Amino acid sequence: MSDFLPILGYDHLEFYVGNARQAAHFYDKVFGFRPVARSGLETGVRDQASYVLEQGKIRLVVTNALVPDHEVARHCALHGDGVKAIGLRVPNVEQAIAAVKQRGATVVQPPTCLEDTHGTLRVAAIEIYGDTIIRFVDRRDYGGAFAPGYMPLDDMHARPIGVAAIDHIVGNVERGMMDHWARFYAEVMGFSQLCHFTDEDISTEYSALMSKVVQDESGKIKFPINEPAEGKKKSQIEEYLDFYRGAGVQHVALATADIRKTVRELRGRDVDFLFVPDTYYQSLRDRVGDVGEDMESLQELGILVDRDVDGYLLQVFTQPVQDRPTLFFEIIERHGSRGFGVGNFKALFVSIEEEQARRGNL
Ligand code: FE2
Repeated sequence: MSDFLPILGYDHLEFYVGNARQAAHFYDKVFGFRPVARSGLETGVRDQASYVLEQGKIRLVVTNALVPDHEVARHCALHGDGVKAIGLRVPNVEQAIAAVKQRGATVVQPPTCLEDTHGTLRVAAIEIYGDTIIRFVDRRDYGGAFAPGYMPLDDMHARPIGVAAIDHIVGNVERGMMDHWARFYAEVMGFSQLCHFTDEDISTEYSALMSKVVQDESGKIKFPINEPAEGKKKSQIEEYLDFYRGAGVQHVALATADIRKTVRELRGRDVDFLFVPDTYYQSLRDRVGDVGEDMESLQELGILVDRDVDGYLLQVFTQPVQDRPTLFFEIIERHGSRGFGVGNFKALFVSIEEEQARRGNL
């Protein structure tokens, strides 16, 4: 463990999208995020437009290009909508960049002071997998709406779904690259490895992946890294890599204190979740035992359960939130467990394969 890169927490997640106004509407009306700021033509920005949305401690930014020959437009043409930047709050951007640069990070934006009448915002960015970046942010001397070039929005109509914080952000990387990126987080950013899942743990006969999880010293920032493993069918990670055209963020897990309420809200707003067959619940008690939860409501809402030595967790996965089978969201409620639902991967896929077999489609 090292303290050369202290991290205060997540600052924001920035998505590059084809239509920021419509994406903002989706995260507002469906996921219950409140629009708090925007930038674009009205704020003097001529080439791109963004909306900032908040819920609990989570801040999302959706950005699109306003002109064709633009980094955001090129990113969207190649990858579709997806996560461009993971924003991390640091106490000192210059020190953060100096520390990671010395350890081998590629700096894509050197420390920059953005200024307006509300003060100075300091930012810088480094490359991670694919075209994704980590952006360091220091808000100490800034009191405006998100960043210079943004104006506040006064929208009081949001209906929150109860998500409070980012729990973890998962990256899918190319075959053979999981160790590279786990080492990058360890050596360049001082993260430690939390756990390691081999294809033995999270494979069925048909779909396989391997995963390593790294976290920062505070334990607030957790980044699982997946790579595809050999299976009879194409791994879901490979499918992602094909459609995203390379490595990128696979899913963002949002923590809630009441997953039943959150899932009811999302289902009521027509969010589609990963299909959970009834066979999953038939084998659930054998797998996790009695965790003191009402199983009927979990089954009714399609909520998954996993257990480890520290406790248990409840989780659900949405379908991808764009037509490409790429980015999706997870909703997670933790009860002691610090895991990621590894038991569910196998249980879920075995259940789905049982259903497929019953239909004669396997
Ligand atoms: Fe997850």
